[in-house]
Amino acid sequence: MKLFIDTGATAEVEEIAAWGVLSGATTNPSLLAKEDGDPGEIIARICDLVGGPTSAEVVSEDPAGMIAEGHALKAIHENIVVKVPFCKAGLEATKSLTGDGIPVNMTLVFSPNQALLAAASGATYVSCFLGRLDDISVDSAAVLGEIVDCFQAGGVESEIIAASIRHPEHVVTCARLGCEIATIPPKIFHQMLDHPLTTAGAEQFTKDWESRPEFGEWLRALVAGNG
Ligand code: G3P
Repeated sequence: MKLFIDTGATAEVEEIAAWGVLSGATTNPSLLAKEDGDPGEIIARICDLVGGPTSAEVVSEDPAGMIAEGHALKAIHENIVVKVPFCKAGLEATKSLTGDGIPVNMTLVFSPNQALLAAASGATYVSCFLGRLDDISVDSAAVLGEIVDCFQAGGVESEIIAASIRHPEHVVTCARLGCEIATIPPKIFHQMLDHPLTTAGAEQFTKDWESRPEFGEWLRALVAGNG
């Protein structure tokens, strides 16, 4: 499963991109609205930091407006994927944009039927929201599993992006279900990273190594000799 970062915060993208684990990024109007600065510059910076598909969302509610915004957003950077909200106008806009060779990420998808329609319109990616389904007591894993099954059974080429990730278990569930991509907020990346046994184990390694100073001298000499 590929990991994308879900944020408009370039400093957070820079930090986690340095880990070497990111394949792409997603933004949306709510995430960008939290940030100071020019939205175009933020999006372009994220594209450069991640070096992979980066979603930027249209905000018009009619097909013509979505299409115009999609072409304009695509011109920001070669890695831009145009994010289009799922609706009738969004389907029409997706058909047009993908017909012009512009990759589209259809977002705000909450059911297998919506996902199938999004794929049929030519969407490159289909973003299925987990957390917001959980928020209304709908089993998000079951919904995502149905979408994965439908796409695999039908040979659908659109890739599923699991979005609205709220905790590390969502990430594990997406991977186990065969989702191609999970787009993960920075906070969750940090939660995925940390484990108390890892911290304790590293501290014990350091303590035991430092109990043999001659070993430290050996390793420093080894490094120096390998210059
Ligand atoms: O990519 C969509 C994501 O940002 C939405 O997350 O937590 O607002 O449902 P959330």
